[in-house]
Amino acid sequence: MKVEEVNGNIFYNGDCIVGARAHIPDDSVDLIVTDPPYGINGDRLHHHYNRDERFVVGGYVEVPASDYGDFSLRWIREAERILRPGGSIYIVSGYTNLYHILHALRETRLREVNHIIWRYNFGVYTSRKYVSSHYHILFYEKPGGERTFNLESRYGAGERGPDSGSLNYRDREDVWCINREYKPGQAKNKNELPAELLTKMIQYSSNEGDLVCDMFLGGFSTAKVAVGLNRRATGFEVSEQVFDLRIEELRDIGKGCLLSALRNPRTGEPENRGRPWTDADRETLLARFTGLIESGETKKRAIETLGRELGRGRWAIEKMLKKQGVRTGGRRGDGT
Ligand SMILES: C[S@@+](CC[C@H](N)C(=O)[O-])C[C@H]1O[C@@H](n2cnc3c(N)ncnc32)[C@H](O)[C@@H]1O
Repeated sequence: MKVEEVNGNIFYNGDCIVGARAHIPDDSVDLIVTDPPYGINGDRLHHHYNRDERFVVGGYVEVPASDYGDFSLRWIREAERILRPGGSIYIVSGYTNLYHILHALRETRLREVNHIIWRYNFGVYTSRKYVSSHYHILFYEKPGGERTFNLESRYGAGERGPDSGSLNYRDREDVWCINREYKPGQAKNKNELPAELLTKMIQYSSNEGDLVCDMFLGGFSTAKVAVGLNRRATGFEVSEQVFDLRIEELRDIGKGCLLSALRNPRTGEPENRGRPWTDADRETLLARFTGLIESGETKKRAIETLGRELGRGRWAIEKMLKKQGVRTGGRRGDGT
C-alpha cells in the first residue's frame, strides 16, 4: 500500500479496511468524517444538474450493489475500532443504500447522536418526479469517553438574528441547507463535499490538534478542511488515479489557513449557567416575572431582563418558568 506524508499528515493509497487494520491503532482517532461510495449500479445519481461531467476526475472506485451490505459492515467495524472512546463519526449517505449503513451501525456499539438531512442545490435532474436534493448524514459517537461538542464554536448561545431568533439554535438544527461548490473548469471528484459542510462538522466535533480521519478521501476535501482548521488529518483512497492527482492539492494547504476566515462567535457565558436552581431562585424568578409583566413589559423583554439579573441564559429562564406553570409563548430550544 502506497503511503504518502504531506506536512506531517499520513495518507494511504489503498483499501480502507485493509489499510486501517494495518496502520491505525485502536482508539486513536478523534473524529471520522466520511462519504463512502454509494454502491449505485448505472451511476445515474452522480450526474448533477448543471454540471459539466468532463471535469469529473476518473478512477472513482464503486462498490457493487450486491456487496454493499457486507462492505459497509466491514469498514464501519474498522471505524469503530480506531475511534477513541467519546470520538465522533459523520457518515454521508444517499438514500439508496442508507439501510445498509444504518444496519451496519446497529451491529456496532456506536451510538446515534443525530440523523442530519443535508439539503443541497444542483440535485439529480428528473422530469417525471421530484428532484432529489438531499443526503443523510449519520452522526454517531463511540461510547466510553467524553464527546467533543463545541456548542459555541460558531454562534454564541445568546446571539440573535435580525428576526431575534437564536443563531446558535438555528445552526444546530438537524436540517442543513448548504450549497455544493460550483467550480467551473476545475477537476472535481464525484460527489465532492463542500468545504462549508465539512467545516461545520469539524468545528463542532473536534479541537485544534485532534486527528481527523476520512476512510474514503476522494478529492481529499475532508483532509484539506481539517488541515486548514489546524487539525491533523489521515485517510484512505483506493484509486491510484484519484489519490495521485488530488493529494497534490493538499500540499498547498497551510496548517490553520482557514482559521482567520472563521466567524468570531460572541460567547460570554451567563455567570450562573449550569448552577442548580434553589427554592429562593425560583421564588425570585416568579415574583420578578409577575412584577415585570404587571408593569407592562412583554414576556420576551421580561425574560431578557431576568436573564441579565439572574445571570442565566434565556432558554434556562424560559424552561424554569414553564416548570413553574408559566406560559411563555413560542417554542424555544431545549436549553441543553
Ligand atoms: C463518494 S467518494 C468520496 C468523496 C470525497 N468525500 C470528496 O469530497 O471528494 C468515495 C471515494 O471512495 C473511494 N473508494 C471506494 N472504495 C474504497 C475503499 N475500499 N477504500 C478506500 N477508498 C475507496 C472511491 O474511489 C471514491 O474516491
